[in-house]
Amino acid sequence: MKRLNIGLVGYGFMGRTHSNAFLQAPRFFDLPMQPVLKAVAARNEERVRKFAANWGYESYETDWRNLVPRKDIDVIDIASPNDTHHEIAIAAAKAGKMVMCEKPLGRSAKEAQEMVDAVERTGVPNTVWYNYRRVPAVTLIKQLLEEKKFGRIFHYRAGFLQDWTISRDLPQGGEGLWRLDVAVAGSGVTGDLLAHNIDTAMWLNGPIAEVSAMTETFIKQRLHTLTGKVEPVGIDDASACLARFENGSLGLFEATRYARGHKALYTLEINGEHASASWDLHDLHRIQYFDHRDEGRVRGWRNIHVTDGDQPYMKHWWVPGLQIGYEHTFTHQFMEFVHAAAKGASLAPTFRDGLATDRVTDAVLKAAQSRQWEKVQTS
Ligand SMILES: NC(=O)c1ccc[n+]([C@@H]2O[C@H](COP(=O)([O-])OP(=O)(O)OC[C@H]3O[C@@H](n4cnc5c(N)ncnc54)[C@H](O)[C@@H]3O)[C@@H](O)[C@H]2O)c1
Repeated sequence: MKRLNIGLVGYGFMGRTHSNAFLQAPRFFDLPMQPVLKAVAARNEERVRKFAANWGYESYETDWRNLVPRKDIDVIDIASPNDTHHEIAIAAAKAGKMVMCEKPLGRSAKEAQEMVDAVERTGVPNTVWYNYRRVPAVTLIKQLLEEKKFGRIFHYRAGFLQDWTISRDLPQGGEGLWRLDVAVAGSGVTGDLLAHNIDTAMWLNGPIAEVSAMTETFIKQRLHTLTGKVEPVGIDDASACLARFENGSLGLFEATRYARGHKALYTLEINGEHASASWDLHDLHRIQYFDHRDEGRVRGWRNIHVTDGDQPYMKHWWVPGLQIGYEHTFTHQFMEFVHAAAKGASLAPTFRDGLATDRVTDAVLKAAQSRQWEKVQTS
């Protein structure tokens, strides 16, 4: 079988979810190519050596610039912070490598556009890791929408609530806290959390035409880990947005790291003329589904446990009724990427789809500044 030699950049949270996916995908799915964990790159030699040994990478590099040109690497997987995506992806595309990139694609739509130009110029297969599309329950909602079960769509609402930055004592910048440093992250919760909501929303309900928004930075100054000084905080701590979809439906989105008690509460709901569905990451194997066309006497919300063999992805896992979790979404996306890549194709969400999300999050940040409705750039 042809091999797919993987070069991973970054060994943090996402480095682990991706490495797990590379190992699990060929065990649970038939793949047209055999993934090989060829090399991992990160800057700290002792830690990268340990990571490589733990996950079974054949080799390691301490600079991604040495990884990208290696002849024994077919695909570069970018799992490092947002400020690295642009440079690594463009270098990988120029070297003729396939690219898988973590979200958000760029720190801005401008960066993302340049990344799209690079992969489209060289024609290398690409994907962005908006993994929530591959939660079986979310994929089931997509199938129901494609089967036109909802009729005309009126409303889409989604939120992503966390609470881990409430403390004033939390510094910004450096390892683990780069998300609070605007130079590295590009923005706060808008690019980090709202971007997930937006990607899923546009996948399920089509493009967003215009937005109005407000953002807030609750803690205005924090100690910067890298400079040792108290510095202004440049990220948005919370972001709320009204949106108008091209199909005429209305969108309502909220992302925050200040919702005490919520750890990763990604929720979504869609309301159509005939049916509604909702989903919640804390109960990720279920959807709530209502169909007004059911017989009146027994009409009501169905609580669907998405674990049966005829539901998306599930026949590859355990027996009906047994659930899977967060890590499997990465396995699903990687499995589908290998199928696409074997044909020389990209996998949605492609870099172009990642650009579309960056254009919406840019419009959200712009609208929060201007206090006006802002059109989302389309070309
Ligand atoms: N798809 C998702 O649900 C999801 C979830 C979390 C993070 N992310 C995205 O994944 C990316 C990484 O986030 P994370 O949570 O894994 O961060 P992390 O801080 O846990 O890990 C980042 C890793 O990148 C390494 N790194 C930093 N600069 C580097 C460089 N120049 N060269 C090589 N390695 C470098 C760090 O040492 C660390 O190992 C971010 O873009 C983030 O937005 C996506």
